[in-house]
Amino acid sequence: MRYRSDVLVLGAGAAGLMCAIAAGRRGCSVTVLERSQRAGQKILISGGGRCNFTNLECRAENYLSANPHFAKSALARYAPQDFLAMVERHGIRWHEKKLGQLFCDRSAQEILGMLEAECVKAGVRVKTGVEVREVRREGAACAEESTRECEAAMGSSTPRLRRSGRNDTFCLVTAGGDEYLSEKLVVATGGLSIPKMGATAFGYELARQFGLSVVEPRPALVALLLASDVARRWCDLAGVSAEVVASCAGRSFREKLLITHHGFSGPAILQISSYWQPGEQVKIDWAPGVRVFGEMMDGVEFPHLPKEGRYGAPSRTMGTKGCSTADAGASFAHNDIPKIHDDIPKMKMRRDEKSALAALRAVLPARVAERWLELYPMRRWTNAALEEAERGLHEFEFVPAGTEGFGKAEVTAGGVDTNELSSKTMEAKRVPGLYFVGEVVDVTGWLGGYNFQWAWASGWCAGEAV
Ligand code: FDA
Repeated sequence: MRYRSDVLVLGAGAAGLMCAIAAGRRGCSVTVLERSQRAGQKILISGGGRCNFTNLECRAENYLSANPHFAKSALARYAPQDFLAMVERHGIRWHEKKLGQLFCDRSAQEILGMLEAECVKAGVRVKTGVEVREVRREGAACAEESTRECEAAMGSSTPRLRRSGRNDTFCLVTAGGDEYLSEKLVVATGGLSIPKMGATAFGYELARQFGLSVVEPRPALVALLLASDVARRWCDLAGVSAEVVASCAGRSFREKLLITHHGFSGPAILQISSYWQPGEQVKIDWAPGVRVFGEMMDGVEFPHLPKEGRYGAPSRTMGTKGCSTADAGASFAHNDIPKIHDDIPKMKMRRDEKSALAALRAVLPARVAERWLELYPMRRWTNAALEEAERGLHEFEFVPAGTEGFGKAEVTAGGVDTNELSSKTMEAKRVPGLYFVGEVVDVTGWLGGYNFQWAWASGWCAGEAV
């Protein structure tokens, strides 16, 4: 059987559904083809089942891309407030968790339900369980011929097609042998993360088939694995977490680090994993903004550093280059640590293992504090030795053995090269009628609702343009 629509959307995830809604509202006949039995599966599992559906602080700086400016236009044209307005129209209750991250009060199901209801209202046809195997292009005349046949097959409920007859037609062939035709094809097939949920490389293959370049996809927002010798020192503490600053490639994130059975995870590590390249070093500041052994050193005061310890220190920190701003917490390099002056009156502080453990425990979970002293025992109690210990805590370095891979990654970095696409419409510059939206594009958000906002914004822009 052959079917025809004004717009075909491949993939019924966040970006595909949003694109279909926008196009359907404009009066286009839209068909969405989804290979899984259910639309929007990632929406359902997102945000621990509560869907962190946007971030109020969303800016292009919160995204990784070979072209850091590419996302600006779409993010400005469809803002977090636009999505929030839809959420509120549907009576979905939400709350801000932290740093502008918006979650459903009840369930992610409500977001999917809202998108499905909007699809129905906009006359969008969503077909699940349809796997597209092949995409061909047909000349305008040939496609026009077949259209009459398609319209008859689709019945009288089909909105009148708005084909221009000028462009070539995309013909999508399904595993079942059906053919879907349209002059506009929007590819919203997502990335490679979580293959169990239907992730495929189809979008990338399609881009290459049409001569578009693809930035090599890699797992992002993913736990890092430790080399076996480092893992032996830490991984028996699996389940313990601490607030740290994780840094790599000039980026820093102050968030929680979670020790796992194979390495490090938690928001700080997931964020930094997106910037990490194999072989590169990751740096951890285990006590950001706190001079842990300061009071053990002779007569030194550090009035510019919080005395109350790390858990009492300000926690609002997201990645900023070099981690040098207030937002990024008071992570500092060894050179910035104040020097000891002999002329300052000496305070009587004990310098022994018990005091060192107490100082560490004031800023770290007890098990991490104990482990730290086991691994890095203090052999001498001179100021120089204390300085060295302080530096070690703030500049712990390791080279990850790898990541937990696409099977566990929350998103895929890389994707269809943004140089190939219009930043306003998401249309391929060299292939009229072909659009790419959402995660399949080389735009990857930080943790915290940014990836959905990109999916909504890019999907909406394409839906307005098709
Ligand atoms: P998405 O992957 O959602 O959809 C692509 C669709 O295309 C899939 O349904 C797939 O089956 C279909 N498809 C693929 N190949 C096909 C083919 N050949 N034929 C037909 N269909 C095909 N982000 C965020 O902002 N806040 C959050 O709380 C979370 N939480 C979260 C948790 C977990 C566990 C994961 C894995 C991810 C998140 N994310 C997130 C990331 C977010 O889910 C992701 O960025 C968006 O879903 C991307 O939307 P897309 O529509 O681009 O792809």
